[in-house]
Amino acid sequence: MSKIYSKIVACGAYLPEKILSNDDVAKIVDTSDEWIRERTGITQRHIAAEGELTSDLGYQAALSALNNTKLQATDLDLIIVATTTPDNIFPATATKIQHKLGMQHGFAFDVQAVCSGFVYALTVADNFIKSGRIKNALVIGAETLSRILNWEDRNSCVLFGDGAGAVIVSASSDSSSDILDYELHSDGQFYEILNTDGGPSLTGGPGQITMQGREVFKQAVTKMSKTVSDIIERNNLNVADIKYVVPHQANQRILSAVAKKLNITEDKLVSTVAQHANTSAASIPLALYETLRNNNLDRGDHIIFEALGAGLTWGSVLVKW
Ligand code: UT7
Repeated sequence: MSKIYSKIVACGAYLPEKILSNDDVAKIVDTSDEWIRERTGITQRHIAAEGELTSDLGYQAALSALNNTKLQATDLDLIIVATTTPDNIFPATATKIQHKLGMQHGFAFDVQAVCSGFVYALTVADNFIKSGRIKNALVIGAETLSRILNWEDRNSCVLFGDGAGAVIVSASSDSSSDILDYELHSDGQFYEILNTDGGPSLTGGPGQITMQGREVFKQAVTKMSKTVSDIIERNNLNVADIKYVVPHQANQRILSAVAKKLNITEDKLVSTVAQHANTSAASIPLALYETLRNNNLDRGDHIIFEALGAGLTWGSVLVKW
């Protein structure tokens, strides 16, 4: 049997219509447009409408990705949804999206790695494809984080937004495009610095986001820099060989600090944090979608996805586009 490669054949995105500017947020908590821009680079975030669920956002992103291929939902074998804000504790949001797509075949499940969710989910899809078990996987990052924010906590509520992004990964016999390598990490000792103060087992409800911002910031810069430099080195590449780093979008200062540590120029760093804020598992596919929309990526280019999220979880994926 010939070797199987994982080709990302399409990307899609969906952002809720409603936009909340920094000035709008300043009407809710004691903050200012100036503080948010200076400390985070964020200027606005999208917020899901009442009744608009994570599965709705994810479904729209899935349709957007399918529209960019010749594939139909009937061609999909697997749906993975990376989310921290599922519609329900069960069933998986992925099965709801599977049903919305009219599918009764294949299998669908959610992955929970918070802001690293897309990186984790993509590597799971890659492994199913390379094992020869499936041909086409839909990987979605979708979040309605606005629903678990404490809108009285200015330390956290200014940072997050809602949205969804999706990619379709297909088995291919052509080595010119592939998910070349990945690194996944987690370390539960950092539970305290970023979590929700509730959960079904803990309190019976989802709780709200609590965060020690400065500590998360430090960990994010150190751990994301290391995973990116390790993956570049292990694959005998140099920073110059990487066309774009597509990071999880948490804070422009984190993105810039990682780039500086790695000697990556800002033009190679995809940033959508100003418009989208932190959409957790959705932020990387949303940033990838913007890169493709601007026609900035050619087949064969090397790109790296990198993320860090609560857990802590972190990791990177090296892709030959
Ligand atoms: O996906 C991973 C999820 N989270 C992250 O990646 C977040 C990582 N952390 C960060 O991005 C930054 O630490 C923050 C943006 C959260 C905070 O920025 P900072 O530069 O680390 O600020 P700080 O926490 O050191 O706070 C500086 C000051 C404090 O006032 P005092 O004590 O110096 O008087 C805060 O009370 O800024 C104050 N402050 C605010 N002021 C206006 C904190 N939040 C706000 C706010 N508006 N929203």
